[in-house]
Amino acid sequence: MLTIEDLHVSIGGKKVLNGINLQVYAGQVHAIMGPNGAGKSTLAAVLAGKAGYEITKGRVLLHDQDLLQLAPETRAALGLFLAFQYPVEIPGVTTTNFLKTAINQIRKQRTLPPLDAVAFLERLKEKRKLLGMDHALVQRSLNEGFSGGEKKRNEMLQMAILDPSLAILDETDSGLDIDALTIVGQAINQLRRANNAMVLITHYQRLLDHVVPDVVHVFYDGKIMQSGDHALARRLEKEGYAWITQLHL
Ligand SMILES: Nc1ncnc2c1ncn2[C@@H]1O[C@H](COP(=O)(O)OP(=O)(O)O)[C@@H](O)[C@H]1O
Ligand SMILES: [Mg+2]
Repeated sequence: MLTIEDLHVSIGGKKVLNGINLQVYAGQVHAIMGPNGAGKSTLAAVLAGKAGYEITKGRVLLHDQDLLQLAPETRAALGLFLAFQYPVEIPGVTTTNFLKTAINQIRKQRTLPPLDAVAFLERLKEKRKLLGMDHALVQRSLNEGFSGGEKKRNEMLQMAILDPSLAILDETDSGLDIDALTIVGQAINQLRRANNAMVLITHYQRLLDHVVPDVVHVFYDGKIMQSGDHALARRLEKEGYAWITQLHL
């Protein structure tokens, strides 16, 4: 599904990613952990196609297509979805309208006809119920005045509606209380299927109490220092990141 080969990225001449190699197969959930400043969000931003990053080496394939050559909207049409640490607020645009526009934009890119209002609202209702979301919330302006938990839940709704083949969640769990964390965890588990994959970027392992990843990677200094199974996340929780750096001195 996703192949990253020897990816090197700089920001303003400063090297931030120093040779990332990663292979994600359909049906898998990968967790990327690591201390602040390790380059986790940079990887997410590069995959999303955000401007301002210099890719100095390497390549990324999504469904065998050269991802880095594609416009962000083409990436979305290919099935890539990114949830960022700080969701944007869009006053005057309801969540419902935003989602309808987003899904029809993707359908247009795939040369599919737009979903009509009835079909869209049915899908919205189904996913909203799956996530235990109130009708009132999707009628409000996108993220405006939403609590942290509501924003995250809303992001999960967005993901459920768009039904991506590869979802990358950058610290979707940060700042969540226990209840919201449970909701996000359940949403991820409900959306987990044999034909999609997810990459969960997280500083803490507590989300991984709800979602058991297939593979855990530890980022440090723009590199993947260690990969393993769920036990690696538990070890990081107990022992912190220091031992990882010790291993490589
Ligand atoms: N827009 C930017 N301009 C300059 N430096 C940046 C920018 N974004 C990230 N960096 C630097 O890149 C490194 C990796 O940051 P980031 O990818 O956000 O790490 P993480 O998400 O793992 O905490 C840090 O040293 C950070 O200061
Ligand atoms: Mg980050």
